Amino acid sequence: MVNAADGPHDDNQGRRPTAPVCLLLTEDLQVRRRLQQLAADHKLAIADSEPAQEAAELAVAVIDLHVPGALEQIRAWRARWPTALLAGYLQTPDRDLWLAAQRAGCDVVSNRGALALRLRELLARSAPASRAFPLLDAADAAGRLGLVFRAPDTPAGPLAVYRVAGRLYAIADRCPHAGAQLSAGEADGSVLTCPGHGSRFDICTGERLRGPADTGVAVFPLAEMGGQICLLIRS
Ligand code: FES
Repeated sequence: MVNAADGPHDDNQGRRPTAPVCLLLTEDLQVRRRLQQLAADHKLAIADSEPAQEAAELAVAVIDLHVPGALEQIRAWRARWPTALLAGYLQTPDRDLWLAAQRAGCDVVSNRGALALRLRELLARSAPASRAFPLLDAADAAGRLGLVFRAPDTPAGPLAVYRVAGRLYAIADRCPHAGAQLSAGEADGSVLTCPGHGSRFDICTGERLRGPADTGVAVFPLAEMGGQICLLIRS
């Protein structure tokens, strides 16, 4: 388990933050410098440990995925702060760790160099407070594999919910190539094939695996809240 007390101590130590908090569990000075600027731009208080429940909202948490205990830490954050934006970064490419971080509850997984840009893009579209949009009863999703649910009308557009390796994923249900309904295509494990012209996408990451589409598709964070599977809205 990551011990937040082992991290660098700057900024708000010893004071109760009142602004939403950006928690940084990394000692990488370059990453910290970039994210401190990002936090300042979005009026987030930097912290090196979780805010007390009553003190402030945890808006963003960032962790170095190569730190021992990082995945357990992400699960704990997700359980305690279901609407926080959780981000993990990799120093070196590691697809297994990337997917494990997503399964643990990360909203953003990125390589080190792209982290600040990915977060900046997301925060630029963020509402001050996230909200949850109910998609379906958790009981209805239990035990179902592959395509679990189509949600044609959500604030994020049409989505399809899949279960892959025990975890639910919400993916945009429109192909970026020519707009075909992706959920009408075949899903084989984590690979979804578009029924239009055969583009393939990774359901877990949204990554484009094969063209003719030249971009990936968006994958959206989900959380179980009050017996419902909810889409977490940040835009
Ligand atoms: S519409 Fe999906 S590949 Fe063309």
